Amino acid sequence: KGRSYLIGGNWKCNGTAESLQTLMKEFDNRGPIPKNVEVAICAPDLYIPLVKKSLRSDIAVGAQNCGVNESQGAYTGEISADQLLDVGVEWVIIGHSERREGFGMVGEDELLCAKKLKVALDKGLKVMFCIGEKKEEREAGITMDVCAKQLAPAADLLNEKDWANMSIAYEPVWAIGTGLTATPEMAQETHASIREWVKEHVSADVANAIRIQYGGSMKGSNAKDLLAQPDIDGGLIGGASLKADFFNIIHGVP
Ligand code: G3H
Repeated sequence: KGRSYLIGGNWKCNGTAESLQTLMKEFDNRGPIPKNVEVAICAPDLYIPLVKKSLRSDIAVGAQNCGVNESQGAYTGEISADQLLDVGVEWVIIGHSERREGFGMVGEDELLCAKKLKVALDKGLKVMFCIGEKKEEREAGITMDVCAKQLAPAADLLNEKDWANMSIAYEPVWAIGTGLTATPEMAQETHASIREWVKEHVSADVANAIRIQYGGSMKGSNAKDLLAQPDIDGGLIGGASLKADFFNIIHGVP
């Protein structure tokens, strides 16, 4: 397919300094990362300096969110893109469904996610931009309408060159943390539709180059079949990234 693979680990709000250090030591013993694979771990912000110090150097460090504010200032509780860059962060996840949902309270809407994406890219971070439908939306046959609604404000705000520094992480919400994985065929079908959408709304070059990761209960035992699909260019992994099994996913790349 001419694209390298991108495997992201999303540790979410998990871990202690001690448990994460133990995990990073386990990663050290898991052999080399294939040349066609780029790996990034998105850690809780508090632990980023520790992760920068202890994580094997062939894995990049990412964050799981960043502020929409373009500079530092009076934004209590936020962390700005330039602060993430200052501590050596290369990647950031934007628009994860858990943040879009807001943990049952106030979530992030499509426009806010798109604005955060633009700020992060302008500052020099690379972004894994998450999209995906809920169970009832898949059942209603509107999966691609939901994905398009999440992508459209981003397509409005970004210049064509911005797309080179981001991936799209397709994460069906019903598959996240549930043990229910989309079948490789089901995921491939949606990935192909997302690529087609990018071709129509951005450009054929961007559609061809952009990596589309699959996320949702991906693990060592199911990664190989997913990653073998022509439009699946990697994964965004939650639960399994907190275990040595993360490396079985990395080694499952064709
Ligand atoms: O960002 C990662 C996704 O939410 C997937 O999480 O692998 O635990 O299902 P999961």
